Amino acid sequence: MDHFATSTSTATPQLTQPTAQPTAGPAAEPTAQPTAEPTPQPTAQPAASAVRSMVPNDDPLWWRSAVIYQVYTRSFADANGDGTGDLAGVRSRLGYLRDLGVDALWFTPWYASPLADGGYDVSDYRQIHPAFGTLADAEALISEALAYGIRTIIDVVPNHISDRHPWFQQALAAGPGSPERERFWFRPGGGANGESMPNNWVSNFSGDTWTRTTNPDGTPGEWYLHLFAPEQPDLNWNHPDVRREHEEILKFWFDRGVAGVRIDSAALLVKDAALPEVPENPGPGEHPNTDRDELHDIYRSWRRLADSYPGTRMLVGEIWLPDIERFAKYLRPDELHTAFNFDFLARPWDAAELRASIDATLAAHAPVGAPSTWVLSNHDVTRPVTRYGRADSSFAFATKRAGTPTNLETGRRRARAAALLTAALPGSLYIYQGDELGLPEVENLPAELLQDPMHFRSGGVDPGRDGCRVPLPWRGTTPPFGFSPAGASAAPWLPQPAEWAALSVQAQQSDPSSMLWLYREALRVRRQQPGLGDGPLAWISGPDGVLAFARGTAFVNVTNLSERDVALPEHLSILLSSAPLHDGMLPPDSTVWLRTQHEPPENAPRH
Ligand code: NOJ
Repeated sequence: MDHFATSTSTATPQLTQPTAQPTAGPAAEPTAQPTAEPTPQPTAQPAASAVRSMVPNDDPLWWRSAVIYQVYTRSFADANGDGTGDLAGVRSRLGYLRDLGVDALWFTPWYASPLADGGYDVSDYRQIHPAFGTLADAEALISEALAYGIRTIIDVVPNHISDRHPWFQQALAAGPGSPERERFWFRPGGGANGESMPNNWVSNFSGDTWTRTTNPDGTPGEWYLHLFAPEQPDLNWNHPDVRREHEEILKFWFDRGVAGVRIDSAALLVKDAALPEVPENPGPGEHPNTDRDELHDIYRSWRRLADSYPGTRMLVGEIWLPDIERFAKYLRPDELHTAFNFDFLARPWDAAELRASIDATLAAHAPVGAPSTWVLSNHDVTRPVTRYGRADSSFAFATKRAGTPTNLETGRRRARAAALLTAALPGSLYIYQGDELGLPEVENLPAELLQDPMHFRSGGVDPGRDGCRVPLPWRGTTPPFGFSPAGASAAPWLPQPAEWAALSVQAQQSDPSSMLWLYREALRVRRQQPGLGDGPLAWISGPDGVLAFARGTAFVNVTNLSERDVALPEHLSILLSSAPLHDGMLPPDSTVWLRTQHEPPENAPRH
């Protein structure tokens, strides 16, 4: 097909109104653009008890359509000049986040941690990492963000803790057979002298999942399990202390006004206590350390706890599972509210692939009544501008290689198109910091500055995830680009490329062709346009390689993944376009949002 059908199937809404000619380029009215300067802060800083009552509870369904911005604190903004981002830095940029138009901030772990895995190795959940600030700073941030209408989501890492956490230190000291060791997975090794690992599970960071301890007398001791790095011992979720402690942690933060919890490695917590080898083709629920049925009981109790608080306290799971029906089980009404949709993120820039993912996602979510999430990247994933600029633009862990040819111009065009596409899909939307600036992956970081255990555990073959974690450029023409204040005592913890001068907030904020402008406009339209966010979607059949769908009665998204310009369906006006049109045609690798007077047929499919 090479045109948009107007009346063929139930999935094909009629586009009936003749239209005004579209104008080229981003077409929405410019809104007042904010400055890149830190905004003055509200002075009131309520105590934790007061914060609890401040959580807006007027919209219990806020999470179904929310735009959630992921803050990687270490790289967002550094207020004290030590080269590391901090909570004061985030507080100074709340105006930027409000103007961007986000509803909530998800903070990757901000707790005390040796940072062996960027904070996913927590040594104390009730303290903030000293480089990021204090608990009082976190409380102030939560309440100040609320004053801007922005909710806070924290990250909880229940599968493992830091090897420096008191529980693990106590377990090491207490020795084999002690109750302290039962909170973890300590096992004697096999072989004559216990020299072989208890099983052959492979780490998610590649390499072994077991590390051998040393007894107080210096002899080799038991082994302990870690699905990630050795600094991240796995907890034993059959142990009541583990369950109790995590519920206390949730209460601690809910009492401080957080509106949600992102659950790290949410499908890995429970293990088959016999620790058997992984079968060759495990059936549903048969894997010894992934997606075990017992997990659902844990999340039901977390949900009861979340529901006992005023306002909706949202639970979002980090769940990488190939089986989308098993994935959806976590989203039953008494379990998690949502989970990251990694299927979509992992697909290449290809119309059939993305369409298949959207359809499968909507179909899997419908029976459980949960909204989908749309995620283009996060702190673990190659930045979209880089990924979409590659011949193979799919994403999979452990397959990244340095020196992969990349066309950043293509990548940037597609990332712009993808930003609009995902913002138009039904459900909530996640934006990883810096994607709104179109930052590419930094692939030439000096080897001696790399920190990611994935890099080291791959023997240096995988460049790791540092390249998507480089500090943000805010303003100015030379590093640190306003990330740290003038006269800072240290350089940013990872160096920013000189070319990022052109990508700073200051460089983009008044430029209607910039990525930042596009994101702001997209979020503005998404907020104002009826039918966007949660709700039904109706596909419109059109030319090959084009994804077109209606939301509500007056909005159509058209994304062109083909290699030629395509004509637009009938419309009244253009709301926003990721690229200038060519004589009214939508060029390859771009998305346009149309205002229509379309009324979907009565029986249009609804998800
Ligand atoms: C997923 C997190 O997103 C990632 O950054 C971390 O390394 C692993 N879980 C282990 O906690």
